[in-house]
Amino acid sequence: MDTTMNVLVTGGAGYIGSHTCIELLNNNYGIIVMDNYSNSSPEALRAVEKITGKTFPIYECDMLDYEGFEKIFQENKIDAVIHFAGLKAVGESVGKPLEYYHNNLTGTINLLRLMKAYGVKKLVFSSSATVYGMNNTVPFQEDMPLSTTNPYGTTKLMIETILKDLCFAEKDWKVALLRYFNPIGAHQSGLIGENPNGIPNNLMPYIMKVAIGKLPCLSVYGNDYPTPDGTGVRDYIHVCDLATGHLKALEKLDSIAGAQAYNLGTGKGSSVLDVVHAFERASGTKVNYQFAPRRPGDIAECYADVSKAKRELGWEAKLNLDEMCRDSWNFIKNQK
Ligand code: WQD
Repeated sequence: MDTTMNVLVTGGAGYIGSHTCIELLNNNYGIIVMDNYSNSSPEALRAVEKITGKTFPIYECDMLDYEGFEKIFQENKIDAVIHFAGLKAVGESVGKPLEYYHNNLTGTINLLRLMKAYGVKKLVFSSSATVYGMNNTVPFQEDMPLSTTNPYGTTKLMIETILKDLCFAEKDWKVALLRYFNPIGAHQSGLIGENPNGIPNNLMPYIMKVAIGKLPCLSVYGNDYPTPDGTGVRDYIHVCDLATGHLKALEKLDSIAGAQAYNLGTGKGSSVLDVVHAFERASGTKVNYQFAPRRPGDIAECYADVSKAKRELGWEAKLNLDEMCRDSWNFIKNQK
């Protein structure tokens, strides 16, 4: 009898999803990947197969296609779900609220309806530190008041609320809400990583494109924040540490009461200039930058209290900023 635990990974071709797939396969889970490739490519899944030497079912399917989504549940034994799929650009969400609410909320409700119909009650959800809003003091703790300032963040907060209500109503659900801080870095193979098309919104992909000459200069958004060097401070976490955080959450799901939130960060803050200098050390290349006005909606400091994940999941991040930059450079220098 096959006792392998099979995990459906929605959005499994994405940056964090693909790194998590590697971690799952290397720990003898079975995986089924569903992705609509709206912000990813099948290339990433071919790299996952190459890195792990394992194959797995892949469905090109949109969460909003209920019939197509149900086919995945009909054709596979699914024991748990890790749910990454969703639109995730903060700035874009401000101009396209309806698209974000429809895709992220309806898509997630479709998933939950199917999980219920097929008796799958274990879920790890990709949430975000953005739910801590602008009024909390660092380090952020899971039981702090939550608020959001953009439709993307609001979809994450709404989905957390839906999951908490579902777990209150139906006691057999086990849900981990993983609040990511700032994921950067890449798998040591250099075969997968973050390389968004066009002009990146996030800091590290922008630095990477400047380092390989695809963009001329990094704008540092604000150098007048109340921080050590005046630039914004964030909790950067290696994407591979984030992946192991998902594995630990999956392993501990049975001991989790209802829906529980966990911060996945390092607990350390690094400024924009810290990241620039670490990347220059790792790559041996100069990163041109200029100071620019603050970006609307940015907060000065954002970093995690990571004690709950350490205590309850037995997880903590292991890689430091220099190692994150080393692996980011190792990935981007191979990209065309
Ligand atoms: C980091 C720092 C910027 C770009 C976002 C989302 C969050 C999560 C992670 C999904 C800030 C500065 C950036 C640039 C810069 N995503 N910066 N020049 O805003 O902390 O978080 O990504 O869940 O929801 O909000 O990440 O990488 O955009 O910014 O100076 O060209 O880098 O001001 O201080 P952020 P970021």
